[in-house]
Amino acid sequence: MSETDKDVPNLEFSEKYTDEHARAYFHKHMDGFWRNLSNKREISIARKALKLAGHPRTVLDLPSGTGRFWSMLAEDEGRKLYAADYNQSMLNVALEERPREITRRIETFQASAFDIPKPDNFVECIFSMRLLHHIGEREDRMKMLREFHRVTSDTVVVSLWVDGNYKARKRARLEQHRRHKKYQNRFVQPRESIEAEMREAGFEIVDHVDFLKYYAMWRIYVLRKK
Ligand SMILES: C[S@@+](CC[C@H](N)C(=O)[O-])C[C@H]1O[C@@H](n2cnc3c(N)ncnc32)[C@H](O)[C@@H]1O
Repeated sequence: MSETDKDVPNLEFSEKYTDEHARAYFHKHMDGFWRNLSNKREISIARKALKLAGHPRTVLDLPSGTGRFWSMLAEDEGRKLYAADYNQSMLNVALEERPREITRRIETFQASAFDIPKPDNFVECIFSMRLLHHIGEREDRMKMLREFHRVTSDTVVVSLWVDGNYKARKRARLEQHRRHKKYQNRFVQPRESIEAEMREAGFEIVDHVDFLKYYAMWRIYVLRKK
């Protein structure tokens, strides 16, 4: 990915994952009872989503961050695994901290989700946790979904924040009082419009799995290339 390429969106949030932040991110999800429980639930719904995707034989984890899902992705011993992230610091922490028997099975590379340096139909499944909710502009979301459509040969498993639940309503109320805030880096998507974008990018929606139905904003969609 070239920084001078005007077609590659340059998101402000993408720049915050320094070495220090990467290490903090690694520890964050294991920190305390509730975070731990939430991490386990997220991994469990992601496992279910992969099953709905038909147990893909090749998976690209993008963005892999510090490899939070690697052990789960590697549960299928025959699966070929790739992992990429925009920030090398995140990949470095993942490679240092995750068990060697897992990391040696994974081929990592630095990449923007908007411009993946791999050929068409490269993997059976792109697995993308906690990136789409950072993308506020429709144009950018479409660019990413279309790039996923190019690089996957079959499915995409993608998580984001959706409306239609208690937490989203609460957040909307809070945001009304925060109108003056200039910089926002996480967004709740109306289900109807994000599903329309997914279809427009060339996917059919196979299914979805909610973190906690009617309460939490996190949802994982399973998409299949049409
Ligand atoms: C919230 S973390 C999620 C990481 C991992 N999927 C997880 O759930 O633990 C967001 C990740 O997105 C990466 N990132 C930011 N902008 C990106 C981009 N344009 N393309 C690919 N990765 C990006 C960051 O470096 C960071 O690792």
